[in-house]
Amino acid sequence: MAGGSQFLRGIFVSNRLMWCALAFGGLLVLPGIRGSGKGMGPTPSGAGPQTLRTAAQSHHLLMGTAADADHLSEKPYSSILATEYSVLEPENEMKFGPIHPEPTTYNFADTDKLVDFALANGMKVRGHNLLWYSQLPVWIVSPAQPWTPAALNKILADHIATVVGRYKGKVYAWDVVNEPFNDNGSLRSDVWFDKPGIGFAGQGTRMIEQALRWAHAADPDAKLFVNEYGAETMNAKSNAVYAMAKDFVRRGVPLSGIGLQLHIGPGFDQQDSLDGLTKNIRRLAALGLEVQFTEVDVREHDGSSFSQSEQANAYKDLLDACLRQTACTLFQTWGFTDKYSWISDGWALPFDKNYRKKRAYFAMLSKLKSRGNDGPRPPHSR
Ligand code: XIL
Repeated sequence: MAGGSQFLRGIFVSNRLMWCALAFGGLLVLPGIRGSGKGMGPTPSGAGPQTLRTAAQSHHLLMGTAADADHLSEKPYSSILATEYSVLEPENEMKFGPIHPEPTTYNFADTDKLVDFALANGMKVRGHNLLWYSQLPVWIVSPAQPWTPAALNKILADHIATVVGRYKGKVYAWDVVNEPFNDNGSLRSDVWFDKPGIGFAGQGTRMIEQALRWAHAADPDAKLFVNEYGAETMNAKSNAVYAMAKDFVRRGVPLSGIGLQLHIGPGFDQQDSLDGLTKNIRRLAALGLEVQFTEVDVREHDGSSFSQSEQANAYKDLLDACLRQTACTLFQTWGFTDKYSWISDGWALPFDKNYRKKRAYFAMLSKLKSRGNDGPRPPHSR
């Protein structure tokens, strides 16, 4: 974050003032952070105003968000996080660089804060991620001596065993491998695959299989996902993801599902994209896999009222596409407030920079409240 400037501090102070004024003025009923005990969900519906979290419960759908440990001390941030969402995913803290900054040093403190917060508020935790080409520490990217595949193999095996092992029973699902494919469906060339790789260069998805097997050994109960962007509709990348998934399911490789990131703009909200998304979910579901929307955000052209309506429609249509298929078990956004979105000028999330609910929020809530013709969804427990 660009932090520290007068400007940012000004926003922070005025947010706090506004929040207090609203709360004390009785305009806003803060539901409070519930769940005094571990594993407790929010209070039964009817006990407070409906939130995305409680409304989604009746569909057996999890509502998730990425979150950042630095912001937990900010009251509106933590209140919204705990009341509106049932899944928390660390936005950066569990990535290889932040969590394993030196060969023999792990930094679990920030992740622990998020995990403790989630469990204290009856939320599930999604781990993100174990194998990715980005946000790697210097010691991996620029070693004093070039890595051998055998050395890298051992490093990754130990890393996965250590991180998954530490959060065994606490992290319910992992993005084990993040963004392994190129848009044309080939495997991305990176340190883990072929530069020099962990010993499976040129062997297609063998590297992904290995990472899944290591994660499964460390926590046999955790759900394991491969997470991708640009593989939402029917295209070369999603075909490659599907081919991998089919092969893994056939051979009993421990894969629970596919994460579709869904960082989109309003242009995605067209019948052909939505049909493609539906078809793609359906073919993955037919393999017996879950599909999770893992990083949804919808960029607006600007903050205008027109853009906000376009954005609200896109959120509603994505949620609709998920609700219509029982294999779709999670609708998760990449953060929730525009204040901290990685899309810095995109107004991409359901709460604005002052934590006010946007049209996108209300569109999602009313979609969740209406049963439409999607019928009751059975609980999923794969
Ligand atoms: C992003 C974070 O949101 C940023 O804070 C960070 O600077 C870069 O990474 N796909 C992913 C996420 O899987 O991990 C990325 O998160 C966004 C794209």
